Amino acid sequence: MGAGFFLSFEGIDGSGKSTQARLLANALKKAGHDVVLTREPGGSDGAEEIRRLLVEGDPNRWSAETEILLFTAARRDHMERTILPALEQGKIVISDRFADSTRVYQGATRGDLRGIVDQLHDLMIKREPDLTLVINMSPNDALARGLARDSGEDRFEDFGLAFQQKLHDGFASLKHDFPDRIRMIDGARDMHTIADGIRDIVLDALP
Ligand code: ADP
Ligand code: TYD
Repeated sequence: MGAGFFLSFEGIDGSGKSTQARLLANALKKAGHDVVLTREPGGSDGAEEIRRLLVEGDPNRWSAETEILLFTAARRDHMERTILPALEQGKIVISDRFADSTRVYQGATRGDLRGIVDQLHDLMIKREPDLTLVINMSPNDALARGLARDSGEDRFEDFGLAFQQKLHDGFASLKHDFPDRIRMIDGARDMHTIADGIRDIVLDALP
């Protein structure tokens, strides 16, 4: 079996990642590909348990350092149990968020902890996606969409608009760090127009 293809969606809360990940998974399945759609934090039994510790409760429940450890622990389990086995079977793995979220949320917004994030990544995760689609949209629009869901998982959204603006700038600057891997997608369009553009980019990038 081949090496598979690993794709991640990134962007601020409410930017439309989950919607686009789902539409892409459906389009690729229709085209005959074997697809695993997964998410972070989560994507394996153990990582879903860690997710609950992370996304529920008081915004100041964890320090930034503790958060980095929890996200990395969840990612390691997700990698071992879900992502690597699927890639080894030659599948396309679509992850709704991956390591770039930690670089931006923990590494750039709450003190300059990017060095720690990168060191832990090199030590415990190692691999990057083959392609990352960053859905770019204004924090105002995205926050309105995100909070409208009222999912009970609003710990990060509760940090507010200034925090979302920092995240937006953090995601935009990732393009400079990983120019070959990252594609910026304009998220302020109709969801099917966005999905058509993403499908073309991905079909072009597949080996
Ligand atoms: P994320 O996963 O980035 O938080 P979602 O995909 O869950 O974002 O989308 C957040 C909300 O916005 C959902 O209610 C979804 O139906 C809606 N939505 C997603 N994409 C669009 C779009 N292009 N235009 C308008 N609403 C959208
Ligand atoms: P998610 O369920 O993707 O939220 P949303 O659908 O609102 O975008 O992720 C939950 C929260 O966890 C989200 O606010 C982003 C945050 N997060 C981090 O802070 N660091 C990380 O490494 C990851 C994967 C997520």
